[in-house]
Amino acid sequence: MNVHVASTFEDVPQLYKRHVFACYTQRPAGHPRGSCGQQGAQPLWDRLSRKLEAERLGEVGFTAAGCLGFCSAGPLMVVYPEGVWYAPKTPEDIDEIVETHLKGGELVERLVVVLSR
Ligand code: FES
Repeated sequence: MNVHVASTFEDVPQLYKRHVFACYTQRPAGHPRGSCGQQGAQPLWDRLSRKLEAERLGEVGFTAAGCLGFCSAGPLMVVYPEGVWYAPKTPEDIDEIVETHLKGGELVERLVVVLSR
């Protein structure tokens, strides 16, 4: 591993072109906060992970994340550097995010979730 001295954000070499964080949290049934897992997240993220591998999209990072803090809006994933939050519900939604955003660089407007703190 090389240590790189950077003085601005632009100087920092980027490991990935885009990086997906997907919430894998599964809480027990009846938990007051609910969870992305209860809302069907795992098969969606597994599909996403398999698709990235199958298409050899090495420039896209994928991280199985813990709770992203907005459980009732799930299943939730966020894509950086754009900082776009998506709440896909079906395998087809995952395919569209891969094709349109992760490969094509365009927003999948219908699946965007706008969150506020
Ligand atoms: S459980 Fe997924 S955002 Fe909290």
